[in-house]
Amino acid sequence: METINLLIQYTPEISILEMSYILASVLFIVGLKRLSHPDTARNGNLWAAAGMGLAILFTILFHKKDEESIGNIPWIIGALAIGTAVGWVAARKVKMTAMPQMVSIFNGMGGACAALISLMEFPKLQESLAVSGASSMLHGETLAILFGLTIGGVSFAGSMIAFGKLDEKIGDIKASWIRYLNLFFLLMLVVLVVIIMFKHPVGGDNILIYLLTLLALVYGVSFVMPIGGADMPVVISLLNSFTGIAAACGGFLYNNQAMLTGGILVGSSGTLLTILMCKAMNRSLLNVIIGAFGGDASANAEAGDKTVKEITLSDAAVLLSYSQKVLIVPGYGLAVAQAQHLCHELDVLLTSKGVEVKYGIHPVAGRMPGHMNVLLAEADVPYEKLLEMEEANNEMQNTDVVIVIGANDVVNPAAEDDASSPIYGMPVIKAWEAKNVIVMKRSMAKGYAAIENKLFYHPKNNMLFGDAKSTLQKLVAEIKNL
Ligand code: TAP
Repeated sequence: METINLLIQYTPEISILEMSYILASVLFIVGLKRLSHPDTARNGNLWAAAGMGLAILFTILFHKKDEESIGNIPWIIGALAIGTAVGWVAARKVKMTAMPQMVSIFNGMGGACAALISLMEFPKLQESLAVSGASSMLHGETLAILFGLTIGGVSFAGSMIAFGKLDEKIGDIKASWIRYLNLFFLLMLVVLVVIIMFKHPVGGDNILIYLLTLLALVYGVSFVMPIGGADMPVVISLLNSFTGIAAACGGFLYNNQAMLTGGILVGSSGTLLTILMCKAMNRSLLNVIIGAFGGDASANAEAGDKTVKEITLSDAAVLLSYSQKVLIVPGYGLAVAQAQHLCHELDVLLTSKGVEVKYGIHPVAGRMPGHMNVLLAEADVPYEKLLEMEEANNEMQNTDVVIVIGANDVVNPAAEDDASSPIYGMPVIKAWEAKNVIVMKRSMAKGYAAIENKLFYHPKNNMLFGDAKSTLQKLVAEIKNL
């Protein structure tokens, strides 16, 4: 079998193929680097896609097995065409607010792909080991296959559940027993991998590999089920990194550098993102892996009989126009309302009146990492105006007005002062420390974590009810008329 044949004969075709993989890897790395800044991100995506296109094209043209070129060309081209068309249409049609769901599905497909590759390659490996007279399955290829299968299976099932949760089609399971069940499943997965590696007879049946697949899928479901509320960002980036690692296993298996580099880049950047997300949410990674955390929506902060103050549009216009320093805190509702352009218009208008306007960006505001950065970049808000959460909090006491636009969980004081709250300990933007707060949203409804927000009842706060887009439209008109 080619995968365990380490003595590759370098023909001109193979050399061209290897070089194309190196070039593809460089394109992935440049693309990834460019993704890290909003100004270059769109372009970075194209660089990485070009790398992938190049690797696929050159594999079709130059890959050889036993001196034979790749077969099934019409099937490969057909599958590529269908995949490209589905991806293209889905990406064109998807609403910005549904992007995290789409990312979850696509990520799940990557995991499923890696798992299927392993399922196909296991019997082939058995065969080739039997032919070579090996006495056990204890080989590097077996490990790559089993890792790819397990991690890919978990990633596929977990991503599907994450999709359902983000789309609000699936609820959370809130029970402490599930964490023990998860630990049990995890242990079983390890035990099965060890048994297959050390005890599986070469040329034996494939029952254990199917059992491993089933267990990985079940664990993927039970791992994500208890995670909910404000904790989803961590699990989503973790699942992304799982898919990358599973793909890298395929790279090892096929001795394919492009697959290996692509997988490792996704795996490592996903892992880094997970660590950053954990920091932002003040959670430990171990807790995520055993599914030990999750918002307990029943532990709601008591709003009590406190009253909510409302502000009129004209009062809000005056307050903002006569301020020196205004901080805009955008959230998921800004994306829902597609009010980013109006938000920028308000910023430009206030700036022209001598007000210093900045934006306070919470790392998990919205529904995907960098959601607010992307949204505001789309409206041409200069990147320099965006403050990270910590910077925004440092400036809070000198800020005259904080305008919270469609944000909720990320400005919830329960994270600081209510130990019974599921978001307790998560760093938040401390809007209440500013001199005045205006919260723009449609109602008193809860945010993603489904918990009450005491900020709305805070003496410094004023609610400006309505859809963010129409409210901002009216507010801008009101300020212009002053
Ligand atoms: P949320 O807490 O979800 O609150 C959004 C608020 O926007 C809602 O309370 C809603 O109130 C308001 N809203 C919705 N549509 C609106 C519209 N058209 N006009 C005005 N307001 C509107 O958002 P957040 O503060 O950005 O926090 C994000 C949450 O999502 C966190 O819990 C986070 O953990 C979670 N999450 C984040 C990610 C990532 S990676 N960012 C991924 C998954 C989950 P009304 O209905 O009253 O208008």
